[in-house]
Amino acid sequence: MVHLLIAAAAALATTCIFGSVSALNPITIKGSKFFDSATGDQFFIKGVAYQPRSHTTGFSDPLSKPDDCKRDASLMKSLGLNTIRVYQVDPSLNHDECMATFESVGIYLILDLTVPKYSIVRNNPEYDINIWNQVRDTIDTFKGYRNILGFFAGNEVTNDKSTTMASAYVKALLRDIKTHISSTSPRRIPVGYANNDDPDVRLQIQAYFNCGKEEERADFYGINLYEWCGTDVDYQTSGYADRTKEVATYSVPVFLSEFGCNTVLPRTFTEVQAIFGPNMTSTWSGGIVYEWSEEDNRYGLVNINSDNTAKPLADYDYLQKTLASVHPKGVRMDAFKEERSISTCPANTDMWEPNAHLPPTPSAGACECMMSSLNCVASDQAVATTENLGTLLNTICGMASCDDITSNGKTGVYGKYSFCAPAQKLSYMYNFYHVNMGKKQPTSCSFNGMAKLTTASKSSDKECMAIKDPLLGPKTGSNSAGWAITYNLVLVGLTALTASMLNF
Ligand SMILES: *[C@@H]1O[C@H](CO)[C@@H](O)[C@H](O)[C@H]1NC(C)=O
Repeated sequence: MVHLLIAAAAALATTCIFGSVSALNPITIKGSKFFDSATGDQFFIKGVAYQPRSHTTGFSDPLSKPDDCKRDASLMKSLGLNTIRVYQVDPSLNHDECMATFESVGIYLILDLTVPKYSIVRNNPEYDINIWNQVRDTIDTFKGYRNILGFFAGNEVTNDKSTTMASAYVKALLRDIKTHISSTSPRRIPVGYANNDDPDVRLQIQAYFNCGKEEERADFYGINLYEWCGTDVDYQTSGYADRTKEVATYSVPVFLSEFGCNTVLPRTFTEVQAIFGPNMTSTWSGGIVYEWSEEDNRYGLVNINSDNTAKPLADYDYLQKTLASVHPKGVRMDAFKEERSISTCPANTDMWEPNAHLPPTPSAGACECMMSSLNCVASDQAVATTENLGTLLNTICGMASCDDITSNGKTGVYGKYSFCAPAQKLSYMYNFYHVNMGKKQPTSCSFNGMAKLTTASKSSDKECMAIKDPLLGPKTGSNSAGWAITYNLVLVGLTALTASMLNF
């Protein structure tokens, strides 16, 4: 096994001499800063949000379109960027070519793991197996790329004082993401959270994601900051100085996960001098401009034409000029010894509700086990549409107690099947009604055709709760071969350089 891998590495290394390979070193975190893991230089994010919308379908995965990636990567390189932030991908598509294209121009990726269809909803938070499956698939699809800088577990989920409970669910998801990475990836890819800038709760949110157990804390923190608008404000008057004070003792890296107020157009990006100058570089690790393509909300740096070419806009030119003039001074990793304390968890108040007891890790096995104990389940007609499921659940929850399938992030009470898929929850409740209210009479399993009788293969669901899903090993997919080889090379002690030549 080992011999074979070394031979494979040698063959690839030889190939590399003839091909052009520029491999990026993984970025690592030490204390409150990012570093290039090989050179030891501090790393400052010079990023852009990258999510061109499709005119026909709305959402489109920007890392699945090799030609578009090539077009944009070279423009980003000229602009002076080293990072993209992508909000939505489709894990079933292939991303190898785009990731290699961005790597070849020195660009890292920070990826948001949830998508609108599978995300924690701020007003009605739930964390179920559908969300977890989507997130886990996305991690497995991207964890093998050397230029994946980090993952976001959430973006602006709690965004005001009325939605604070949702943060307990985000923190549970963040915990599970970290556990999954540490048990399936040789590299501990960091996981963070991106906050909005709501004055009522920003300090609580910031402390919350940096308090408590290590396995539940964010590895880095982003703030979407739009306070610097136009050229009439400066470091002090914009609010940037105050925000900097607030994160000055934060124990993990902090950066502007979005910036670039557009109330004054074109944007000249005077804040870039501050972000990469001495006022901010000892505290912040750079920032991400919102956003690459011109869309309806008018934040674009380039216009993507109907013939699929890209034309830089005035904002692009201004940003290019100012980025070329900044030279953030960092520290060296070996010389950086500062260790800061984690935050104190914010006290629960009317304006800060999340319970310290977080929602459980969703278990598909527990839900399947429960399903096999039911004698009355939702019919095909009932599960045909997601919207329908919500209405049907509301109806049945008006007739019987839904404690087993609901959760409360404020009280910290989570029903034993609160993480199951909506269709499974509906089946559980139809059966619950059938057994408890209907005395198992066949007529009590109808609900106008939304429920149907079936034969349980288990006499009770007693054993189901203890079932935890196994931690999955390396994914077997497009990206897995290179991943496995890289992993084994690390194990047999070859240098990071040799390992990083693979995949080409
Ligand atoms: C840094 O802060 C000082 C003091 O507030 C300010 O005068 C200066 O303009 C700031 N520098 C930049 C580049 O914003």
